[in-house]
Amino acid sequence: MYKLHVSTQQPYDVLVGESLLLQAGALLRRLFPPCRIGLVTDSNVAPLYLQALRSGLEEAGFSCSVFIFPAGESNKNLTNYGQLLSFLARERLSRSDIILALGGGVVGDLAGFAAATYSRGLSWVQLPTTLLAAVDASVGGKTAINLPEGKNLAGAFHQPSLVLCDCSCLQSLGTTQIHDGLAEMLKHGLIADHELFQRLEKGFSLRDLDLAELIYRNVEIKGQFVLCDEQDRGPRQILNFGHSIGHAIEKCSAYAITHGQAVAMGILAEIRAAYRMSMSPIAPEVIESAFALHGLPTSIPFTEEELWNAALRDKKRSGEQIQLTCLQEIGKAQLCTLNLSEFRHFIALGLEE
Ligand SMILES: NC(=O)c1ccc[n+]([C@@H]2O[C@H](COP(=O)([O-])OP(=O)(O)OC[C@H]3O[C@@H](n4cnc5c(N)ncnc54)[C@H](O)[C@@H]3O)[C@@H](O)[C@H]2O)c1
Ligand SMILES: [Zn+2]
Repeated sequence: MYKLHVSTQQPYDVLVGESLLLQAGALLRRLFPPCRIGLVTDSNVAPLYLQALRSGLEEAGFSCSVFIFPAGESNKNLTNYGQLLSFLARERLSRSDIILALGGGVVGDLAGFAAATYSRGLSWVQLPTTLLAAVDASVGGKTAINLPEGKNLAGAFHQPSLVLCDCSCLQSLGTTQIHDGLAEMLKHGLIADHELFQRLEKGFSLRDLDLAELIYRNVEIKGQFVLCDEQDRGPRQILNFGHSIGHAIEKCSAYAITHGQAVAMGILAEIRAAYRMSMSPIAPEVIESAFALHGLPTSIPFTEEELWNAALRDKKRSGEQIQLTCLQEIGKAQLCTLNLSEFRHFIALGLEE
């Protein structure tokens, strides 16, 4: 088992290994006395892992109130957030109780935001069940829901008390979900670790013997950015690589395109545009060949006008300017600022194949 200690203001451990779901009761008892757990999951994950998790938690002395909502990004919304808060109130959870998120990034974001806001904040634990949530959403304490006006527009920083990345839970993922996680892993390689990028470029499978180590390396990279800028006002924004255009793509597709696929398209567009505007020496072919090998997208199904309108609402914009991540070399990135008219040109160049 691998362990990363994240020494944010409220420090916590991220454990990566096998069969952690079954040990969750004992692991939680090291941190919490017996209490009520608001166990939040979605309609796909519940039939797979809820029963085993719940039994273990109850054996360890916890009592569970289970909230299951329909799976999918479009359900990370105000309606389900409101229903979850009301559920927690009806179940009489108090500030000495905890929230546990069992699922992908959607469950983590929704449950985490409820944990941040219900009764002015409850402790929470994350059990990520997608590759994307394990390598990315599990660290950093960002929680959010989407508003009709845009993605992640209501949210809070609220670090979890513990994260359990159980690699055994990832084996039920489909190809698209694996690709989604791979997009964020390639992002980590591109911005911070040339060797990781080269390793992934050669191929990736959930059957890799060193899956736990690979997830751990991604968590470590993410953790380093989080630690130097917990509130995301400076260098942590480098992690938004591919997301300025990626979030616009998600929004334009009404969330039919998954976050990971949209990020992959966003990375492609941002690399193409930065190269063509001489903001980065990295030629698009580098990423195009890696994406083609992995079955990741190599084109973007929206117009400049559509993406521009969606991007204007993104919270990464500040006033008349937008911050973008540009690669200086593979494994090294910096933030660049564009004004809005330049950003429109940037989008146009990113769409040209
Ligand atoms: N808070 C953060 O730091 C952060 C970071 C990255 C992404 N995100 C957010 O995470 C979301 C994307 O996360 P995601 O890709 O995990 O999406 P997701 O949570 O929607 O999961 C993808 C699909 O996989 C299913 N699923 C989950 N675990 C499974 C398993 N083990 N086996 C089979 N199916 C399973 C889900 O039900 C869903 O249908 C986006 O909303 C994104 O904004 C947040
Ligand atoms: Zn992301």
